[in-house]
Amino acid sequence: MKHFKIAALAGDGIGPEVMREAINVLRATEKIFGFQFTITEAAVGWAGIDQSGQALPDATLALCRESDAILFGSVGLPERDPTIPKEQRPERAALLRIRKEFGLFANLRPVQLPKALAHACPLALERQGNGIDILVVRELTGGMYFGQPKKTEPLPGSAGGFRAIDTMVYTTPEIERIAHVAFRAARLRRKKLTSIDKANVLENGILWREVVTRIGQEYPDVTLEHMFVDNGAMQLMLRPTQFDVMLCENMFGDILSDEAAALAGSLGMLPSASLGATSGENTFGFYEPAGGTAPDIAGKNLANPIAQILSVALMLRHSFGLHEAAAAIEAAVTAAILAGNRTGDIFSPSETGARKVGTSEMGAAIVAALQA
Ligand code: IPM
Ligand code: MG
Repeated sequence: MKHFKIAALAGDGIGPEVMREAINVLRATEKIFGFQFTITEAAVGWAGIDQSGQALPDATLALCRESDAILFGSVGLPERDPTIPKEQRPERAALLRIRKEFGLFANLRPVQLPKALAHACPLALERQGNGIDILVVRELTGGMYFGQPKKTEPLPGSAGGFRAIDTMVYTTPEIERIAHVAFRAARLRRKKLTSIDKANVLENGILWREVVTRIGQEYPDVTLEHMFVDNGAMQLMLRPTQFDVMLCENMFGDILSDEAAALAGSLGMLPSASLGATSGENTFGFYEPAGGTAPDIAGKNLANPIAQILSVALMLRHSFGLHEAAAAIEAAVTAAILAGNRTGDIFSPSETGARKVGTSEMGAAIVAALQA
């Protein structure tokens, strides 16, 4: 029997309620396919601070180290975050720390607009073409998020005011390894790679473009194009169907993946995978919804659990090599949508046959579709 250890870190806001549905899906998958998942839940984010004073408690980190993958919810509460020093806040102390600690440099964010949700996409139907299907490959452990120096200091020679410094650093090996991930992914898709940079202004952009071009020579079957990030943001709105794989440095990928997510109807639909070593199967990974804690709707059974459930599918595929089960979960999500189940974020009163459901009803519909 295939056995895998999963660290389930629900976190804050809507985290716990969408995690509950994801775990139900894992339990159903276990029964159907005969796997064994040992799922251990642990505190992170404000839940960690309240429990043991740390956004990433030592016990949680230890659990992650002995697991095959981390299934993560979301962390951070805008109301509470400013009450503690910035270094201890959940985003930095838990999320960014885990990314760095486990060397999770490759962030995969698949953006797909299902035909049935065309109404939830902010773009007119004719711009949606035959459907939007983009994979954003975001570098996750370099660039301005981690570059040193990173500090705020008094403005020299003045009576008041400060200067804030963030540093953007990329090295050739960092660009090479993420480029390989993106080219390999493109090979398995429509064989087109758009590399995003700001080579007209930034030193980083020039190096990025040079290195990606050189790595591209190893993938002659993949069409490579370069695009400045500002144009890329515009093209996503004008003609999203031109994109297959978009390769971005950390900050540009953060911004463009949210923009792309809007095209898929809702941030609540988007899973993501963060991987370290990416060759071969059974690679350790971190799986989370692309959206945040959504404190305004937390605890009200309103959140869309699909991003968390699709993150489970990504985990099965990338960390466990369980391709058939991953595809079955994705098919169950599609089936639940086709059957008319809609959480508030993807509901439109004008859509015939659509039914507004809560978090737990959506989860149950997906589990039922999986079992059918
Ligand atoms: C994301 C999030 C994080 C990021 C935040 C919460 C630190 O926006 O995963 O996209 O900026 O990377
Ligand atoms: Mg983001």
